[in-house]
Amino acid sequence: MSTEQSISALPPNHRLFDGSVPKPWVESLEQYQELYKESIEQPETFFSRMALKHISWSRPFTRVKQGSFEAGDVAWFADGELNITYNCVDRWAYADPDRIAFIYEADEPGQGDKWTYRRLLQEVCRVSNVLASFGLRKGDTVAIYMPMIPEAAVAMLACARLGLVHTVVFAGFSAHSLAERVQDAASRVIITADEGLRGGRVIRTKAIVDEALATCPTVERVLVFRRTGNEIPFNPSRDVWWHEATAKHRPYCPPVPVSAEDPLFLLYTSGSTGKPKGVLHTSGGYLLGASMTVKYTFDVHDGDIFCCTADIGWITGHTYVVYGPLSLGSTSVIFESIPTYPNPSRYWKLVEDYKITQFYTAPTAIRALRRQGDSWVDSCDLSSLRIIGSVGEPINPEAWNWYYKKIGREHCVVVDTYWQTETGSHVITPIPGAIPTKPGSATLPFFGIDAVILDPVTGEELKGNDVSGVLAIRSLWPSMARTIAGDHKRFLDTYLRPYPGYYFAGDGASRDKDGYYWIRGRVDDVINVSGHRMSTAEVESALILHPQVAESAVVGAPDEITGQAICAFVTLKDEVVNDNINAELVALVRKEIGPIATPKHLIVVNELPKTRSGKIIRRILRKVVAGEADQLGDLSTLSDPTILDILIKKVEVSI
Ligand code: PRX
Repeated sequence: MSTEQSISALPPNHRLFDGSVPKPWVESLEQYQELYKESIEQPETFFSRMALKHISWSRPFTRVKQGSFEAGDVAWFADGELNITYNCVDRWAYADPDRIAFIYEADEPGQGDKWTYRRLLQEVCRVSNVLASFGLRKGDTVAIYMPMIPEAAVAMLACARLGLVHTVVFAGFSAHSLAERVQDAASRVIITADEGLRGGRVIRTKAIVDEALATCPTVERVLVFRRTGNEIPFNPSRDVWWHEATAKHRPYCPPVPVSAEDPLFLLYTSGSTGKPKGVLHTSGGYLLGASMTVKYTFDVHDGDIFCCTADIGWITGHTYVVYGPLSLGSTSVIFESIPTYPNPSRYWKLVEDYKITQFYTAPTAIRALRRQGDSWVDSCDLSSLRIIGSVGEPINPEAWNWYYKKIGREHCVVVDTYWQTETGSHVITPIPGAIPTKPGSATLPFFGIDAVILDPVTGEELKGNDVSGVLAIRSLWPSMARTIAGDHKRFLDTYLRPYPGYYFAGDGASRDKDGYYWIRGRVDDVINVSGHRMSTAEVESALILHPQVAESAVVGAPDEITGQAICAFVTLKDEVVNDNINAELVALVRKEIGPIATPKHLIVVNELPKTRSGKIIRRILRKVVAGEADQLGDLSTLSDPTILDILIKKVEVSI
């Protein structure tokens, strides 16, 4: 067991009970345990009650849960009908039209504006009408490739209003990556912007879309929001300006009721193979997971200002910028910029300016901002904060403690939330006021999540505490992904078949002496860079496109700021020395996948470690880049052990 295990649980934070803020929804560990027990032992009673409390149904459900992991046919509230935007927008716009739905903080500080629920409803309806005028009907797929602006959320909601399936592609992805996703989802329309702005830099968003569309025959129309107003390429027979099209339509569009099991969105994520997976989420169960976790994990109450800094191109943006906060009628901050623009006070100034009550970001940002020094924090008033969250990768105790002390001023609760694109919402997380926290542990399972640790080899459940293995979930939960678009077999093979009867998360984990979970990181060929999942195979495929590259192998190297960094090894086809090869390869990966996949280390070697049958042994590369060359383990399968010394030396001088 590692040393973190001995840290004792901190008492529940006093600020939540001092009378100055609303009492938490779950007030004690006993209450959590009682509710948790019910959610596992009587899931139908528990989730039926929750679904009636949190969601407005246009046709009530009579069935709560059905299907099994074995059959891969999980469904929740299947005969119920609802409309997502009715739940997220209309009901608040009718009850309290002037309530703020979004606070938009633009790239330049002080710019941006506030969106009331009334305005949001009207704009969503106009865009829905535009989409309907394109001939789109329930079940069609729309790709969204936009900067972090309120219109990106409007685009998502406008799709949901008509029962269209959106697939948001992070606007930092390359034309090639965008095209791959648009083709896979067979999207008929793309919603985009002329350009994006991030940290004062202009991103040529529409030009990237145009490049992608050269290979996307399914796309009939491109709806373009004017963000910067600069001159852009425009094809009038295909492209439509958002402001012109919306002006033609009335600000109301009836919401289309859909089945709880109708798809709401596809979101592409990296897997062990090169091809990204279109993870499919449905309407009812997903919304319930989003709503319940915003309420319980972040202890959101009326009047709170919720800020999640994730881009809507990731699941965190879907669930915790858009669907979760809006489903509770909260105010959500949409942040277009980066944490260091114009200086490293940006996040904390945001908290001060908008009196943010819940702040949710990634460990990478916390580590990077910590490094900038405390003066950037000390100059800001952070007294409005109650809950501060972390997501995307393990948070090391040093970063946790800085976050707790400096940002939380030792009176906020830190919630280290563990979940995945596939889980839809938090699965292991503290609940403020109820679950005492430990720096570095995501603590205990959320309602309905029967978490277990399995022996990776035998698949046996490791019972009791003080055990390590792989993380799995034994229960069905409402917001779990239902399939991978067009490839249900891959869904079964990846998540449900490795350990029959369980959902396999792909992460190593341990459960300490107090029953707390500690996530240890991926056990597959996925690496986590700044909380973003990258497939090593995808980067390898990009590298191999270079005419001089013979073979490539990519592994994650430990990195102080980004958690892991991409470390690429290549062998070349001939001896011709090309001094520029490293720069060319980095540029190639950026072009093929996007800047987020930039290799930090690129190492040209003569040979890669292989088995006798020619398979690259990535385990050896991982150990060497982690500085653990003295712990390489069993090398009996290595075909040529003499290459090791050279490899180790090469890595030493390169990293
Ligand atoms: O390895 C885990 C890590 O991120 C993976 C999921 O990535 P993605 O689907 O992109 O979703 C990111 C945002 C939910 C997981 O398999 N991960 C996520 N949260 C944590 C984490 N690892 C440790 N602690 C966390 N809190």
